[in-house]
Amino acid sequence: MPAEETNQDDLVEQARRVRANAHAPYSGFKVGAAIRAASGQVYVGCNVENVAYPEGTCAEAGAISAMVAAGETGLTDVAVVASGPEPVTPCGGCRQKLAEFGRGETNITMATMDGQFRTATLSELLPGAFGAGHMAES
Ligand code: THU
Repeated sequence: MPAEETNQDDLVEQARRVRANAHAPYSGFKVGAAIRAASGQVYVGCNVENVAYPEGTCAEAGAISAMVAAGETGLTDVAVVASGPEPVTPCGGCRQKLAEFGRGETNITMATMDGQFRTATLSELLPGAFGAGHMAES
């Protein structure tokens, strides 16, 4: 399906644009992410790899950092863009990071550079998420 059919076109476009700045010399896999915060403001991030491989960070983590640094702690929509045979889904760690600031119904749009996309809610991507309630005294 072409990307113009998603109702998150603006977010997909911003994720696509920031992807160009990804630092991914080791995997060669550039990812861009855009987050719409509760205020409506959009924050973007790209993956930043490191020669010490485990030190690399995902695009979603970068966008979350930008949002929190700007003083926001709630997000409503997320877009992730990469180039591949099908839309890339946020990795497991990023799903948990998004859950820190999103809700079960938070909308995640995953798109390829050639215009395919799929959408899912955060609870579909991370069923049974670990949350603060699990740490309540029993
Ligand atoms: N990557 C992301 O930025 N986000 C994801 O959700 C999946 C993976 C990055 C990490 C690494 O730089 C590259 O893609 C290959 O795994």
